[in-house]
Formats: sequence, structure tokens, C-alpha cells
Amino acid sequence: MIYGQGTRLILRQLIFFEIIQLFQLPSESFAIVKKVQDYYFKKAKQENYPARSIYKLEEAQQKHHFIKPGDKVLDLGCHPGSWSLYAAKISGGNGSVVGVDLQKTHIVPPSGSGRIEFICADIFDDDFIPFLSSKIPFQIVVSDLAPKTTGHKFSDHLKSIELSRCALAIASQSLARGGHFYCKVFQGEDFPDFVNEVRHYFKNTKIVKPKSSRVESREVFVLGLEFKGTE
Ligand SMILES: C[S@@+](CC[C@H](N)C(=O)[O-])C[C@H]1O[C@@H](n2cnc3c(N)ncnc32)[C@H](O)[C@@H]1O
Repeated sequence: MIYGQGTRLILRQLIFFEIIQLFQLPSESFAIVKKVQDYYFKKAKQENYPARSIYKLEEAQQKHHFIKPGDKVLDLGCHPGSWSLYAAKISGGNGSVVGVDLQKTHIVPPSGSGRIEFICADIFDDDFIPFLSSKIPFQIVVSDLAPKTTGHKFSDHLKSIELSRCALAIASQSLARGGHFYCKVFQGEDFPDFVNEVRHYFKNTKIVKPKSSRVESREVFVLGLEFKGTE
């Protein structure tokens, strides 16, 4: 088809406009994402938490009130310690937290908080559950376990599911009846199966996407309320 010079100019401008739109949209969303991240980063700093991930537990706690004063909490994948610190504050002087991570963690809870014991261990280790047996039962098991991400969505999802299943197995062997489980998962093909596995052990199961978790991130949290026990 042969266009006149005027038409060619308009077409060129339209294509140029569309290309600009294509590049503008992601950069605008990127700016919003950065703003939200900065907001939670600054908030965590002001409130003396080592990581902004604290708000992914705080939001769920403020809505569902599953951690109670006096509770014994197991925090899987605890480094650098924000969730442990927050759980120790909620569980208070009569409560306690056991934090577990591959990385050494050290953080001193403020006065009035529960005691925190940090353990440097791999949750997949055969000795890990027998080792925990001297510390059970827990009223709460939380897991923010995350694999080293590769950017390849499917394999990151599979590694996350593997960690979450291990966290669920630990929860099922260490929770007191009526206890609660809160666990991070990267969504993907096996996610619905994992939710069903959680449902098997808990009276009430919810999927939580906190505002502090980036919208474009595939992470969500599964909350299992009221552990039914294994018998
Ligand atoms: C997102 S970070 C946890 C942040 C923490 N909730 C906080 O608020 O400070 C995830 C952690 O999972 C830990 N992790 C991953 N695989 C693990 C494993 N097999 N055993 C123990 N910890 C593991 C990582 O070392 C990492 O520190």
C-alpha cells in the first residue's frame, strides 16, 4: 500500500507514541514499587527492625490475632531477625521464640519481650526435627523461608514449595493442638496442592497477601488456624 507523505508522518508519530507508552508504563510502575519499598524500609529502620519483611507478619497478626501473649513461637528462616523480634514483643515476658536459619543471627529483644533463642541450622537436616523435640510444643510456627532466587519463575517456585512443605512437616510435628501456622510461598503450579496439604492439618486456612508484599511478587502467605493434631 502506498501512503502520502502526510499519512506516513502521522503513522510514524503514532508508532513513536506507542513505543513511548510501552517504555513509560513499566518505568512508572517501577517508581511506585520503589516508593512502597522505600516506605517500608524507612519504617522498619525507625521502628528498629532489621528488615522490612516484619510488616508481612505484622499485617497478618493485626488482622487475625493468631500470636497471643505467653505463646512459644518457632520462626523458620529467621535471619536477620525481624519476625523473631516482633513475635517476641507480642508473646511478651511469659512467651519465647526459637529462631532458625542457615545464617547466624543475633538480636537482643527489648525488655518486656519474650526470650529469643537463635539456632543456626538447615531445616532439611535429618537431625533437625529430633533436635527440636526438646523444645516442643509450640503454639505458633511461622516460616519466611526463601530459597536463593534465580529469576527463573518455575524453579524458584519449586524450591519455595520444597521449603514450605518442610516447614509444614515441622509444624505438624511440633505444634500444640489448636496452634497456628503462617508460611510464605512463591505461587506456581504446585501452590493449590500445598494449600490443600495445609487444609488437611488446620480447621481454617486462609491465603494472605499483605500490602507490604510487592504486587508483582509471586509471594503469598498461607495461614493455617487451629491445628487439628496428627491422630
Ligand atoms: C526472607 S529471609 C527471612 C527474613 C526474616 N523473616 C526477617 O524478617 O528478618 C529468608 C531466610 O530463609 C533462610 N533459609 C533458606 N533456606 C533455609 C534452610 N534450608 N534452613 C534454614 N534457613 C533457610 C535464608 O537463610 C534467609 O535468611
